[in-house]
Amino acid sequence: MALLSPEEWKRYWDLGNVTTFERSFEDGYDGSILEFWEHQIDGQHTPVIDLCCGNGALVWAADKLLKSRGADVLVTGIDIANIKPFVKLKRNKRAYPNVDFIGNTSIEKLPLPDGSVGLAISQYGLEYARFESVIPELSRVLKQQARIALIMHSEQSSILQNMSLFFETFSKFMLQDGLAEKFQALDELFNAHRTIDSVRADDVYKKLMGEINRILYPITGKYIDAFTVFPAQPPANLMDLYVRNLFQVFQNRGANNRARKKDLDFQLRQIDATLGRVEDLRTAAVSDQELVQLKSLLERHGFTVTHCEDLLYGPAKDNFGYSLVAER
Ligand SMILES: C[S@@+](CC[C@H](N)C(=O)[O-])C[C@H]1O[C@@H](n2cnc3c(N)ncnc32)[C@H](O)[C@@H]1O
Repeated sequence: MALLSPEEWKRYWDLGNVTTFERSFEDGYDGSILEFWEHQIDGQHTPVIDLCCGNGALVWAADKLLKSRGADVLVTGIDIANIKPFVKLKRNKRAYPNVDFIGNTSIEKLPLPDGSVGLAISQYGLEYARFESVIPELSRVLKQQARIALIMHSEQSSILQNMSLFFETFSKFMLQDGLAEKFQALDELFNAHRTIDSVRADDVYKKLMGEINRILYPITGKYIDAFTVFPAQPPANLMDLYVRNLFQVFQNRGANNRARKKDLDFQLRQIDATLGRVEDLRTAAVSDQELVQLKSLLERHGFTVTHCEDLLYGPAKDNFGYSLVAER
């Protein structure tokens, strides 16, 4: 299993995603996640750095919280990728005088003076670096009285469980069952016909559809073809969404050979990119053993772990990973 490279992350953030949850949390983190940060970002521990900030979901939230409390505090997001959150999220720098970002920088080697930071925060970030390098580095840049507050992916989290199901299912479809090749063959078949009706009448079409449906049946539970009209309600989950998107390429662009090929390539790339991100997530997620290692490193550097529990989110109380606070 592998982590994504800084270039792969840059490509993801350049799409204008606010968090790694794609279209979820577009207005920033909310519910119990936001409540956790409301407690930790208190305006007393300053200035603030956000480790592995991506497009700054937590930086924007921290700035908003501090502003609402009348605190004039600098919040700096740091990421190893060449991030450009102001540009990519179309935010005006002048409206955020206390927000700053440093890209192309590993949190294992922070470009900050000793004892200069009051609060280090990170959501789904710290676990991407090596704890044994990052904790001594944080100890160096943090003030004598300081706080570290973290939300981290964990092996038990619902996010990991759900995404792992997607990963297992779709990597089998793509690698073992040759799903991409079958959709590409379908695209070529469309190329060879003048009308959609003649595609439909072709035995090769029926054979290909049979093969595609045999692969996708565990998700769809029913026979779907390139002419199936999907119900108006939104897709039930990510797997349902990707399956619909693949079929819809042929519905939306049936007769337009170039547009159809372009759309199909895009949808197949989307699946590959998501598989890569799940692999990254599974690699980064903190195990029980790594949590013990992190706590002992923190204690060795003079911090006391004052809070460490599963973060439960939403009405179903889904496990969103570990929340941890350490004070010195
Ligand atoms: C899951 S994303 C972070 C999401 C972000 N904190 C949020 O809440 O939307 C992980 C980020 O860690 C960054 N990263 C990975 N290793 C890093 C390192 N050693 N130093 C700094 N950033 C790193 C990646 O570039 C990526 O943007």
